[in-house]
Amino acid sequence: MSRLSIITAPDPILRKKSAPLETIDDALRALMDDMFEIMVAGDGIGLAAIQVGVAKRLIVTRVAEGDEPPVALRLVNPEILWRSDEPSVHEEGCLSLPDQLAEVERPERVRVTYLDAAGERRELETGGLLATCLQHEIDHLDGVLFVDHLSLVKRSMIIRKLKKAQRQKAVAPA
Ligand code: NI
Repeated sequence: MSRLSIITAPDPILRKKSAPLETIDDALRALMDDMFEIMVAGDGIGLAAIQVGVAKRLIVTRVAEGDEPPVALRLVNPEILWRSDEPSVHEEGCLSLPDQLAEVERPERVRVTYLDAAGERRELETGGLLATCLQHEIDHLDGVLFVDHLSLVKRSMIIRKLKKAQRQKAVAPA
């Protein structure tokens, strides 16, 4: 069982900028495995290390396109090299903003460079849900949440709902 738990908004930790990783070792691979496990348990398709309180540039994703089985990725120091001009809109959620969904507009395609779990340099160009997921997770590494792409009114509404849910949870009998 994973030792990690997911930090939820508006916790200020989620606003921290994550630092690049210098080395990829077994401890890091174990962290990625734990992150993967907690992501799957939460029914998420992506998770950034900062969401479990680790301010390192590390994300995991598990995205299925159409009827294909989900593709698992572990990305260290991911960087967006290129974004398409054409936008697309996807409904997004986040394990750090439980039960909140909103449509977000982002570039339709991206090219991303990263190190894989073995430390090999890789490049990936993709569109659709995976492109959205990668942009969402890489945002987390810079302290950005998907609600930051919404209007102030929508963002405030979602944050208010989250605070209310947390208050209710705090007073609910165990
Ligand atoms: Ni998220």
